[in-house]
Amino acid sequence: MSTTEIIITRPDDWHLHLRDGSMLKAVAPSSSADFGRAIIMPNLVPPITTPEQAVLYRQRIMDAIPENHDFEPLMTLYLTESTNPDDVSRGASSGLIKAVKLYPAGATTNSDSGVRNMDVVMPVLEKMAKIGLPLLVHGEVTDEDVDIFDREAVFIDTVLEPLRSHLPELRIVMEHVTTVTGVEYVMASDNNLAATITTHHLIINRNTILAGGIKPHYYCLPVAKREKHRLALRTAATSGNSRFFLGTDSAPHCDGTKLSTCGCAGIFTSPNTLGCLTTVFEQENALGNLEAFVSLNGPEFYRFPPNSSKIRLFKTKVPVLFPDKINTQEGPVTVFDPMFPIHWQVTPHTED
Ligand code: DOR
Ligand code: ZN
Repeated sequence: MSTTEIIITRPDDWHLHLRDGSMLKAVAPSSSADFGRAIIMPNLVPPITTPEQAVLYRQRIMDAIPENHDFEPLMTLYLTESTNPDDVSRGASSGLIKAVKLYPAGATTNSDSGVRNMDVVMPVLEKMAKIGLPLLVHGEVTDEDVDIFDREAVFIDTVLEPLRSHLPELRIVMEHVTTVTGVEYVMASDNNLAATITTHHLIINRNTILAGGIKPHYYCLPVAKREKHRLALRTAATSGNSRFFLGTDSAPHCDGTKLSTCGCAGIFTSPNTLGCLTTVFEQENALGNLEAFVSLNGPEFYRFPPNSSKIRLFKTKVPVLFPDKINTQEGPVTVFDPMFPIHWQVTPHTED
């Protein structure tokens, strides 16, 4: 008989964009409803580069979370070429800062303050290696002569591998891995390297974006690749391998900025991410490994205990309805359409 109910440790999202202001207020409850914690991306304008900014941003996030939601934002700093190693170690030792994010300059949304020359940030990375603070990498090079579909593989060869050889003690998460090359690289490496995988990269490939008309709501960075890569990601995510865990990269943009001659990268998946993932794991006959991917492998890498509460996922006869869009003061934000019905409802689980 097929499974109709699963009870798992409350999940965490190890890569999330919550934005700020009215957008933050509109999108934060979609994550805090289902997730216990999330690693909060620092790519605001201006970016979060100091513990002082992070503490204020954390408070704005807490103010946007409904009172009955139990959610902890895990704050990160945005690495720039002027980041001070002492700021980073101060932030980490106070318990506020859980990781530092490396955006190669120009790689994606709000990455202009990112890193151009890795040598300049080496003192910060050396300090992080010493104190065990994870570096989260947006693993794409930005050189104009590198094809956008090859940017991850070239990043591994020209940035990640040299960095890991120079600083093997540095703990690194390859965020939103999208290729066979990336998956194989993580699998072949030691325990200081892990990867997050998004919900949408398990579901879409580049045809989804480009075949039969251009679909801006499926455009994100790293851009979805060809089908063989999607299949490799599904194998990695559903395998139970502890080096792969969920980072949704849910990245809300208003429809006006997506549906434009130069549309923004980002897919908003928070409202239906768990339903989408449970369906993917069911399709792969791997429901038994869902908890590892969404609730256990992430905390293990970050050296945190898993959440103590649980959620219940149960199968519904009729598809669960999600809004097509959520309204914000800045305009509507379109919710990810997985192109299949979702028959899994999420509820909190309390032992009786
Ligand atoms: O698609 C993306 N959107 N990829 C990123 O790396 C950034 C994100 C955003 O902030 O919109
Ligand atoms: Zn992101």
